[in-house]
Amino acid sequence: MSEELLYKPGLEGVPAARSKVSYIDGRQGVLEYRGYAIQDLAEHASFLEVSYLLIWGQLPTRDELDAFEHDIRYHRRIKYRIRDMMKCFPESGHPMDALQASAAALGLFYSRRALDDPIYIRNAVVRLLAKIPTMVAAFQLIRKGNDPVQPRDDLDYAANFLYMLSERIPDPLAARVFDVCLTLHAEHSMNASTFSAMVTSSTLTDPYAVIASAVGTLGGPLHGGANESVIEMLEEIGSVENVESYVDDCITNKKKIMGFGHRVYKVKDPRATILQGLAEQLFAKFGHDEYYDVALKMEQVVTDRLGTKGIYPNVDFYSGLVYRKLDIPTDLFTPLFAIARVAGWLAHWKEQIGENRIFRPTQIYDGHHDRQYVSIENVNVQYQFSPTPHRGYIQ
Ligand code: SDX
Repeated sequence: MSEELLYKPGLEGVPAARSKVSYIDGRQGVLEYRGYAIQDLAEHASFLEVSYLLIWGQLPTRDELDAFEHDIRYHRRIKYRIRDMMKCFPESGHPMDALQASAAALGLFYSRRALDDPIYIRNAVVRLLAKIPTMVAAFQLIRKGNDPVQPRDDLDYAANFLYMLSERIPDPLAARVFDVCLTLHAEHSMNASTFSAMVTSSTLTDPYAVIASAVGTLGGPLHGGANESVIEMLEEIGSVENVESYVDDCITNKKKIMGFGHRVYKVKDPRATILQGLAEQLFAKFGHDEYYDVALKMEQVVTDRLGTKGIYPNVDFYSGLVYRKLDIPTDLFTPLFAIARVAGWLAHWKEQIGENRIFRPTQIYDGHHDRQYVSIENVNVQYQFSPTPHRGYIQ
């Protein structure tokens, strides 16, 4: 088959790997982790139970889960040098950039690579699941000018993160809702950041570099960055009355509506439905959020107008409304996505190194051939950009 026929922009519809980690049926709105329906896992399992399932392929026994949780509590602390490094970051820096830098820095402290050693693999899984939340929370306090707080071993995974962020022990409902949000964001087959993790994994580099690659990929507004953009969009719309004109303007100007559409789902993302239920639980206990009414109107108007094109709410549309009610700053929404997706990235990392072949696709070359060198004196003016001579330093 010719290269032209094989080429698919964005690899749309092109299988890049064989995997047992998760399954999506985009037309039926089905999502399964290792064969278990996302609805069952969200209702019955903890995030660490789900992480264990994703990475090792089976639900843990009570003893296995207790040992896993114990090891993660033990490894939650980060080196003071990483905290000190964060203190050199600009307060105005985006928390996803701080997380990517810190995740890469972890590799400096755990540089040994033994990808064929199950103990090494388990230790890397424990360290990354344990330390990523601590680093997200640490940067949040540092950029406010405060010293980060140490993790609390008497709190579970979700409650401890909310505590490190706010310095207050969270309400049990808030902790449970956040734990379910982590499960919902943990894994999603061959999405862009997981593919990035796999490409990096395939060179047999260390898992900290793998996670740093994936964090960098997740941050874009077309991927994990959409949850932050959704809240900014709802704030811009402001009220239910403005929704129709906003949506019509987006459609007229072919502007993507954040939180809608998906490469795979052509119906409503099942995770969005579960997140709506979580938001409504929080509203019932802690008070309503008027942006939820705007969001509901948006879902109705967008699906009326674009449903026939398969444009429905995705995971990012309602997640921000849950996080707002948990008093989490908007620019931390994507780092929360990253905390959860570390489980999925590690599951695919472990799968990739277990049967590895380095990713090296080909390309269709559209450029020149056989060009003869011309000395610079004879090169004609051919400004592809206007090199305005700059005065002083480029800001
Ligand atoms: C995540 O892959 C994953 O699994 C990702 C994720 C995960 O868990 O890892 O699910 C998480 O990233 C969710 C997506 C978050 N992103 C957004 O909400 C940003 C807005 N969404 C779009 O950018 C878009 O829907 C994508 C990027 C998510 C998917 O884009 P595709 O598959 O490349 O679709 P496309 O851009 O080719 O659009 C197909 C058509 C186009 O119309 P036509 O040119 O054919 O007329 O659908 C339209 C698009 O204009 N369209 C939209 C739209 N998304 C697609 N129109 C308006 N608003 C949108 N959001």
